Amino acid sequence: MTASDPFVVKSRSPSGRVLILTLNRPKALNALSDGLFRQLNAYLAEADDDDTVASIVITGGDKVFAAGADIKELGANTFAAAYSRDALSSWQRVAAIRKPIVAGVAGYALGGGCELAMMADLLVCTPTAVFGLPEINLGVIPGAGGTQRLAHLIGKTRTMDMVLNDRKLSGKEAYDFGLASGLTKEGESVVAAATKVAEQLATKGALALQAGKEAVNACEWKR
Ligand code: CAA
Repeated sequence: MTASDPFVVKSRSPSGRVLILTLNRPKALNALSDGLFRQLNAYLAEADDDDTVASIVITGGDKVFAAGADIKELGANTFAAAYSRDALSSWQRVAAIRKPIVAGVAGYALGGGCELAMMADLLVCTPTAVFGLPEINLGVIPGAGGTQRLAHLIGKTRTMDMVLNDRKLSGKEAYDFGLASGLTKEGESVVAAATKVAEQLATKGALALQAGKEAVNACEWKR
């Protein structure tokens, strides 16, 4: 990868109706740097205003989703500086997108990576994907809403085990516990599987999709 490579690669599904956003920092296991998040948010905002986009896939490709916030950037921040500039507020923009988002997760979805995946509306993963919130080992907590989202999805006890004790979930467990909506079949690419789900969404009415998403998120739910 060179300095000019994008942090997020944009492509379309064969029908042209699904925008596929692929996180692209493979050497850093797609760690979520400020620059990557800026690009992701810009593409998502564009897609929300683009009538040719019906649904969106966010994926890290078939090796790794994201190993969390960029620890090297985090290390350069003091808590006071991060808190006063509301450093994680840009992450919440993903959850405010009105079009449906499908996450495609293979490999690690750790820390902020797990939190990003949970901001999607549907989540497809491989059985061997690894979900975790290891922030406790760094002396911090998942700061982008993941504590609440995970508790809603899989319940308090399992969430406590993950947040306080760094318990990891396999993709298979994530599916069994309700964190994932679908699992890839043997040998199937997670990008293809997530795109297939997003293509199904693209056959539905655009307004009904947006209204359905909004209505579900209007329950006592952390968006
Ligand atoms: N930030 C920045 N760089 C990261 C990274 C991260 N979160 N995770 C991995 N990398 C980098 C490594 O530094 C390494 O780079 P170099 O080759 O330049 O040294 C490269 O990615 C490959 O990583 P490893 O050699 O460690 O790969 P591995 O296969 O041995 O281990 C791993 C993989 C278990 C995921 C391990 O990399 C790891 O534990 N990463 C950190 C996970 C983590 O703690 N995530 C939470 C971040 S905090 C957060 O997300 C806060 C929040 O709530 C917003």
